[in-house]
Amino acid sequence: MTDRVTAAVLVPEEDELEGSLRPRRLAEFVGQERVKEQLAIVLEAAMGRGEALDHVLLAGPPGLGKTSLAHIIREELGTGIRCVAGPALERKGDLAAILTSLEPHDVLFVDEIHRLNRAVEEILYPALEDFRLDIIVGQGPAARTLTLDLPPFTLVGATTRTGLLTTPLRDRFGMTYRLEYYGPGELGTIVRRSSRILGVEIEPAAAEEIARRSRGTPRVANRILRRVRDFAEVRHDGAVTLVVARAALELLEVDGEGLERVDRELLAAIAHKFGGGPVGLSTLAVALGEETDTIEDVYEPYLLQLGLIQRTPRGRIVTELGRAHIGAAAADRSRLF
Ligand SMILES: Nc1ncnc2c1ncn2[C@@H]1O[C@H](COP(=O)(O)OP(=O)(O)OP(=O)(O)O)[C@@H](O)[C@H]1O
Ligand SMILES: [Mg+2]
Repeated sequence: MTDRVTAAVLVPEEDELEGSLRPRRLAEFVGQERVKEQLAIVLEAAMGRGEALDHVLLAGPPGLGKTSLAHIIREELGTGIRCVAGPALERKGDLAAILTSLEPHDVLFVDEIHRLNRAVEEILYPALEDFRLDIIVGQGPAARTLTLDLPPFTLVGATTRTGLLTTPLRDRFGMTYRLEYYGPGELGTIVRRSSRILGVEIEPAAAEEIARRSRGTPRVANRILRRVRDFAEVRHDGAVTLVVARAALELLEVDGEGLERVDRELLAAIAHKFGGGPVGLSTLAVALGEETDTIEDVYEPYLLQLGLIQRTPRGRIVTELGRAHIGAAAADRSRLF
């Protein structure tokens, strides 16, 4: 029973594609210095006491290293890990089966933890606080609560939206680490590290150029690097020079600020179709043919960070900077074609 249930909801330990570039140890994890420093302390303290690490919440936009850090935590602890996607845990029994299969001090990684079903979330509360599982057996007057003891374990939750977490769940984490967008220097280090792993010959200036256009996000930097490598191999001799990188980025339609076509379409839709805004999220989603969640999680955070759009109580507006950006992009295009 346990095996069948866990097989259905557990996600593979690693995404094959990203696996080889994923940092394995804390020392390999580039940037986020404060998070690393704090994490190193709590890890050492918990191991020194021979206790399970307190529950950890990792928050931040997609691709900044939450899943990587969850795996690093277990690697540093030298324990086992079970990985599940929050929305895949549909029934209480799914979670109960996973919890009872944990070994002492194991890590339970729940991705997208803000999307846990409420009933499932409720059985997590006593499990997190007292390592206890309350199961109701039978129905009506014959119903009884069975209490199972669980081994002490560490929940590592990842979320792109802390705001959607319920207060009782948020309160049960011993620490919350918020990952920030990476600076160009850190991304340059990541691009050079990935190039070494992939065996790509790259000029320092080309690594910097890719870093600058990766919207502060390691996953984007790695993705661009792979595409630039393809371009370098097919159109050139394989070496990534600054000229080759720039030509590849042009082909990929990644502009100087790292915005891609959809980002520019989003800015242009607010500016031209909706008179600069404010426009509601769902209206904007329909106009772009995108999911509201994708717009909120993937596109908006970086546009907000750059100050190209703003969120107001009545909807999104495009800023002067945002208008200037699409104006400049349009001028660039008319010069090109
Ligand atoms: N600090 C880092 N140093 C080096 N590489 C990193 C770092 N952070 C992320 N990466 C790279 O970026 C990729 C994406 O990171 P990861 O999967 O951990 O992001 P995430 O925050 O879990 O994203 P999502 O919210 O979409 O699940 C990793 O496979 C890894 O190669
Ligand atoms: Mg992840």
